[in-house]
Amino acid sequence: MEREKQRIQELQTLKLIAETLNEANDLEEMLQAVLKQLMQVMKLQCGWVFFVNEKGDFSLVADYELPPALTWGNKKPMCEGDCWCLDRCKDGRLQRAANVIECKRLEDAIEEKWGDTNGITHHASIPLRAGEEKFGLLNVAAPHKTHFTSEELALLEAVAYQIGTAIKRIKLVENEQKLALLAERNRLARDLHDSVNQLLFSLLLTARGAKEMTEDENMKDTFTYIQQLAQEALHEMRALIWQLRPQGLENGLASALKHYGNMLGLKIDIDIQGVIDLPNEVEECLWRVGQEALNNCKKHAGISTVYIVISVQSNKVKMSVHDQGCGFHYIGENTLSLGLSSMRERVTSLNGEIHIKSTIGEGTTIQVMIPLKRGRG
Ligand SMILES: Nc1ncnc2c1ncn2[C@@H]1O[C@H](COP(=O)(O)OP(=O)(O)O)[C@@H](O)[C@H]1O
Ligand SMILES: [Mg+2]
Repeated sequence: MEREKQRIQELQTLKLIAETLNEANDLEEMLQAVLKQLMQVMKLQCGWVFFVNEKGDFSLVADYELPPALTWGNKKPMCEGDCWCLDRCKDGRLQRAANVIECKRLEDAIEEKWGDTNGITHHASIPLRAGEEKFGLLNVAAPHKTHFTSEELALLEAVAYQIGTAIKRIKLVENEQKLALLAERNRLARDLHDSVNQLLFSLLLTARGAKEMTEDENMKDTFTYIQQLAQEALHEMRALIWQLRPQGLENGLASALKHYGNMLGLKIDIDIQGVIDLPNEVEECLWRVGQEALNNCKKHAGISTVYIVISVQSNKVKMSVHDQGCGFHYIGENTLSLGLSSMRERVTSLNGEIHIKSTIGEGTTIQVMIPLKRGRG
């Protein structure tokens, strides 16, 4: 009778765990909650979860009732150093729920007299994964427990599978949200560029034209004023559009340009000379200029490969974006074209130079040079 009651209680807890995993949207909250439920159903004392990234770096993402020996100094023993379970996880030896592993962290703790271990010396280690993808480890322990039955291990493994699937689901959702946000910002920026921007631009030209058509000085002043206002609005709008575009520079300029080009459906042939270690504003400028140059290649050049060269020297950085497309007749610095003039504006604001060369039927090259201040740290 007692046994049956216990069984029912276990099943209820397992159902609760499944519910938690099913409903959670926050990774750490979910792991924390599930860990606690798991400890209760298995009558264990403490547990923790390590995530391990592709590089092999680990981090503690959840823990429950760790002994004092492992929690001192803001859980210092859990955040650094190596241990046998992580070694096994990294080199692929830990495929299934491993039986008990002696805990190197606790052994160190005893040796170094870090504090009370609550009688814990061993723990079971269970890999967390979804399909082939590995996320990390679930470790559980109880005082003086040096053996886990095969039934216990099977249960741990079953829960670990569910946790792995839930982690995967949350990661996918997070990724999806990020992509949706980027897509939305891009769409907004594009819409503003194509609609409001073009209207303001027409307004500017109309005011300019109207000014020429009248002899009345008051009218001329009014049209000049309208023209100025339109110009200002254009500037504001342009700044807004640039701000809206996603950053994308987290992995560096070269990778950002390559990805951006690929996203547009272009093949990017990129050649880097020197080490790209640029001040933020220079990197940002090259990124924005590069983006617009790639947009133009996609929109106007009619080719699929773009050649980018970035060369960093001690006192300057040069970037060229070259395509062998249809080319166009470039009228020079006074162009009213928004994309080209905002490239120029960006580069000159950093005391740089820009050369736009284009030959009909042969292609286009945008060359940018930005000086770097000496003595930068
Ligand atoms: N790589 C290129 N190949 C061919 N034509 C180009 C290229 N870049 C720019 N152009 C021409 O220069 C014009 C001005 O470009 P831009 O100022 O970026 O404005 P937009 O791209 O909004 O038309 C384009 O409309 C196009 O005719
Ligand atoms: Mg353009």
